[in-house]
Amino acid sequence: METYGARCIPSPSPETAAGRAILAQRPDHPGSLGIAISEAVEVAAMREDTKYALGSVLNHVLLHQTIVGLEAMQQLEMAGDDPDVIVGCTGGGSNFAGIAFPFLGEKLRGGRDIELIAVEPSACPTLTKGLFAYDYGDTAKLTPLVKMYTLGSNFVPPGFHAGGLRYHGMAPQISHLTKLGYIKPTSYNQLDCFAAGIQFAKAEGIIPAPEANHAVKAAIVEAEKCRESGEAKTILFNLCGHGNFDMQAYTDYLAGKLKDLTYAEDEVAMALSGLPSIG
Ligand SMILES: Cc1ncc(COP(=O)(O)O)c(C=O)c1O
Repeated sequence: METYGARCIPSPSPETAAGRAILAQRPDHPGSLGIAISEAVEVAAMREDTKYALGSVLNHVLLHQTIVGLEAMQQLEMAGDDPDVIVGCTGGGSNFAGIAFPFLGEKLRGGRDIELIAVEPSACPTLTKGLFAYDYGDTAKLTPLVKMYTLGSNFVPPGFHAGGLRYHGMAPQISHLTKLGYIKPTSYNQLDCFAAGIQFAKAEGIIPAPEANHAVKAAIVEAEKCRESGEAKTILFNLCGHGNFDMQAYTDYLAGKLKDLTYAEDEVAMALSGLPSIG
């Protein structure tokens, strides 16, 4: 970013009221997507020349990303195949929705049955352990309320390497579809995900982003299930990013320095107790 003229500062930063308030409570705060959103919204609100465009979570972002699934449909048509299982990792939900929604649309219009698997980190288990409730999309409570699965907007996920999955909430459309049973959520620890990413890199020559490793892990698990049952299934997953910017994460993993991190259940309980009350 600095190559292109940006000034980069880590969040929480001393440059916003939201960042200063958080740093005053905890100077070594590891940050989170919820805090970064608060800081970005604050900067955009204070400046005439700045607008804020959210990169995930909101439904219009999910629909924008459906180009991924629409392209996958055309590619599968060229390959003469159809998916039985679709897998994606979920931080705010955009890459998963992007690949899954066009196929789900076909299914809902009477098409083939497809299993949709949303994969999240065990250390930030929004869909698998969160509440379906109205909550804020950011930590400083600047955004509108959203009905979603949430761990509470004050929850700070531990500092694992898939930073893009360290978000307390989930897109409302994904939350709703999960509640209705159309999406099956699951979670994995970071060490299992890195092992899967390295297995994938050896086979395909592409190093996946730590976020994408969650989808790789779940796709491998589905393939192994098929191997055991003798069933033939087509498994489609979204390789949502490469890991070329994440060499430190792989270096730490290969040096045995990474640990599986667990979230503190009492912190989630405390964050959920602070959910806004809706009349
Ligand atoms: C490579 C990658 N994948 C996935 C995500 C998670 O976001 P989403 O759930 O919106 O796809 C991020 C977020 O930063 C990311 O960088």
